[in-house]
Amino acid sequence: MPDAPAAGEPGSPRRQMHLAAFVEGVNHTTVWRDPAAGDQMAFASFRHAAQTAERGLFDFFFLGQGLRMREQRGELFELDIAGRPDSFAMLAALSEVTDRIGLAATVNTTFYEPAELARSFGTLDHLSGGRAAWNVVTSSDAFTGGNFRRGGYLPYADRYVRAQEVLAACAALWAPAPAAASFTGRYVGLRGEPAIPPPPQGRPVLIQAGDSPDGRDFGVAVADVVFSRHSGRDEGIAFRRDIDARATAAGRDPRSVLVLPIARIVLGETGRDAAERAREIGFAQIGPERALSFAEQVWGRDLHDWDPDGPLPDVEPYVPDTPVMQGRVQSKADPRATVAAWRARAERDGHTLRSLMVEIYARPTFVGSPKEVATEMAARFDAGACDGYVLSTHLMPTGLDDVVAEVVPLLQRSGHFRSSYPGGTLRDLLFAGAA
Ligand SMILES: Cc1cc2nc3c(=O)[nH]c(=O)nc-3n(C[C@H](O)[C@H](O)[C@H](O)COP(=O)(O)O)c2cc1C
Repeated sequence: MPDAPAAGEPGSPRRQMHLAAFVEGVNHTTVWRDPAAGDQMAFASFRHAAQTAERGLFDFFFLGQGLRMREQRGELFELDIAGRPDSFAMLAALSEVTDRIGLAATVNTTFYEPAELARSFGTLDHLSGGRAAWNVVTSSDAFTGGNFRRGGYLPYADRYVRAQEVLAACAALWAPAPAAASFTGRYVGLRGEPAIPPPPQGRPVLIQAGDSPDGRDFGVAVADVVFSRHSGRDEGIAFRRDIDARATAAGRDPRSVLVLPIARIVLGETGRDAAERAREIGFAQIGPERALSFAEQVWGRDLHDWDPDGPLPDVEPYVPDTPVMQGRVQSKADPRATVAAWRARAERDGHTLRSLMVEIYARPTFVGSPKEVATEMAARFDAGACDGYVLSTHLMPTGLDDVVAEVVPLLQRSGHFRSSYPGGTLRDLLFAGAA
């Protein structure tokens, strides 16, 4: 019998996108102070979000990890809230109130030992019947390590050396019994029996979100899914090409690596309503303090006396030896060039400091009526910019309700998204229809 054509090739069913729901770790995207937001520790919040995603037939429900609140000038960031529930406990509980959707945890390899990671992810895979996924992150800075015994002990360049070793050691622990697991590396070593039987999926689905060259090489070496920041059409195509080339160079079939960028959707009855709503959400996400703190990261100076609703500061940026902000996500660009570009943009579009920060740091990926959004999501997917989207929302836990009710049916109608869950594990769900 001839091989079936690969999905997306002539004569085959349409290649279908993958969707995931993301609850961010430490971020300025989730507006927990919104009166409609739930409690950030309550199981009910996570249950609602996960069950909504499962109703939408999403591939997986995905928790970020925040190991430390960010701070600047000794003050915590406005929207960084304390009290991030432990992902393993939360996803284990969610496995009981969901049936098919994958359950993904972001967990750092820099601060934990492989024996505990292999047991926790293996347990989640057993409890959920083969639905566990691990977003393997490495942390970008020493500050994040402050709550751990060794602190920020790993040089930046060695984070992925340790990550590789952690995964190799976990693989030894997940191997089919009766293997006595042993691994000796530079940072990681183990010798002993696995604590639990091999997980139903063999190993959990592996997701990777590093963006540096080392991070990308690590991604194509180990990951089933690369989680990216590159949700735009052209940047998505460029990123996909880069991942394909790296995968091929590493001897992997690029089709075995899915690329799923983060995306935020703002819906309205019309495009104009949606744009107005996006603006309101952006200003809720970037309050006056937050606008100033973003600007301070680039200017490298204290700007707290500056009026965020006035023009951009007319002082020149100071280029510091050490970062102004402590925590994730820092620009490595030249501050002088960034300030010059921002001034030109503010002048051209009539921005205040805050409205420019909203435009830069809180811009949603898709804004429009359900039809406009579904059409654009499908167009980027068809253009080869991605294999689907990881959807994040400003409002927990109800932020994806309207997307599931109004956008998913349109993607199903156009054949871009599944209309029922196939059987099997999360890995089967992600690679069903693949060649
Ligand atoms: C879209 C996206 C979301 C991320 N979310 C988290 C997170 O929740 N927790 C975390 O510790 N790191 C997170 N990261 C950070 C990366 O996994 C990685 O550790 C960081 O980008 C530094 O690696 P790099 O230098 O290779 O880019 C995220 C990265 C991306 C691209």
